[in-house]
Amino acid sequence: MNRFDKIVELRRPDSLKWAAADRFFKGEDLLPLWVADMDFEAPEAVREALRRRVDAGLFTYAELPASLFEAVADWLGRRLQWQVGQSDVLFAPGVVTLLKAAVCAYSQPGDSVIIQPPVYGPFADAVTGQGRELVLNPLKIEQGRYGMDLADLESKLRLTGAKLLLLCSPHNPAGRVWSIEELEGLAALCRTYGVTVASDEIHADLILKGAHTPLASLPGMAERAVTFIAPSKTFNLAGLHTSFAIATDETLRAALNDALGHRDPNPLSIAAAEAAYRDGEEWLEACLEYLRGNTAFAAAYLTEKLPQAVVYVPEATYLMWVDLRPLGLSKEEVGRRLVEGRVAVSGGSAFVSEGEGRIRINLATRRALLEDGLGRIVTALGGSEARVEAQANGEEGAGA
Ligand SMILES: Cc1ncc(COP(=O)(O)O)c(C=O)c1O
Repeated sequence: MNRFDKIVELRRPDSLKWAAADRFFKGEDLLPLWVADMDFEAPEAVREALRRRVDAGLFTYAELPASLFEAVADWLGRRLQWQVGQSDVLFAPGVVTLLKAAVCAYSQPGDSVIIQPPVYGPFADAVTGQGRELVLNPLKIEQGRYGMDLADLESKLRLTGAKLLLLCSPHNPAGRVWSIEELEGLAALCRTYGVTVASDEIHADLILKGAHTPLASLPGMAERAVTFIAPSKTFNLAGLHTSFAIATDETLRAALNDALGHRDPNPLSIAAAEAAYRDGEEWLEACLEYLRGNTAFAAAYLTEKLPQAVVYVPEATYLMWVDLRPLGLSKEEVGRRLVEGRVAVSGGSAFVSEGEGRIRINLATRRALLEDGLGRIVTALGGSEARVEAQANGEEGAGA
């Protein structure tokens, strides 16, 4: 049996994804395909390191060991062919914390900061929460695929004088692995207009198709880009709150470090992160293979059973973005039907803008549960019934 098909107790009282779904969506016994956690046990190497650390019996204030930074730098060299020094790496409890710190470090209150929606919601909060002006450079869709709108970006840079951009690479929820050409186009604009980039690359290890390039590894970008990574998505350790910033430029690093301020590491998180980066590779490869299978399965299932929905097959992440607007149902109706159908997915409106009428489905669960969840979605949205209704209303819906 594939290890990712193993049945594990998921409905734990301390699981946000499983225990909070009913409360959050006001439903009962919902199958949760929302929060970006995987329903898979963490790598054995991580669990063994945690057991050993627990058995040591001491949980005093922790020190970040050099071996942890070495493990991070080795991982980046091995997986992404990106050579960084151990001293280029900063520890933080999470990427959302890093995004907020970057906004504080690289802009002033009232300054404009650019993001590219639809995008992970906390990007917007990181900007507005620190009293900065949010500037949107929406992604565009060409031939059924999301892409960057660099012409719009340039006009926004001219118009607003923004000096900071928060990049999501690979992109959540669009599922894009940005091409070298797209990243080079973005980098060229950043150099021309003197823009710093905080590049959230938390999904960089979850590549289903293609290859990920760190923006900061492009020529001339080390001086203007900081990169955020974490073992949390890669090895399913989000609850252990560990992330890292890579800033090879000393000035950028010092400013981020100051903005982050005091942060206490946790001895269990240190043990888990180090073991994951040192010994988690075999697990990750097997997990990616399983996720590729789930992605293909979900794409085929939805295309066949809900043909009017527009499915954006992810190139990275285990999150599938689906445009339901061609079904002609209101956002409220979609929400009501899904909850009644006992399934929870992320609503598109949570992704800042350009998300209305879409949903994001988390595919990282065992295949049997995924099939159950997709079945619930299709039944709830009433396939052919909804289509007839939409046609009767003369609604085509964008992106159809
Ligand atoms: C793009 C992106 N950034 C950050 C996070 C959360 O990071 P953290 O839990 O380290 O704050 C997520 C979680 O889904 C994400 O998708």
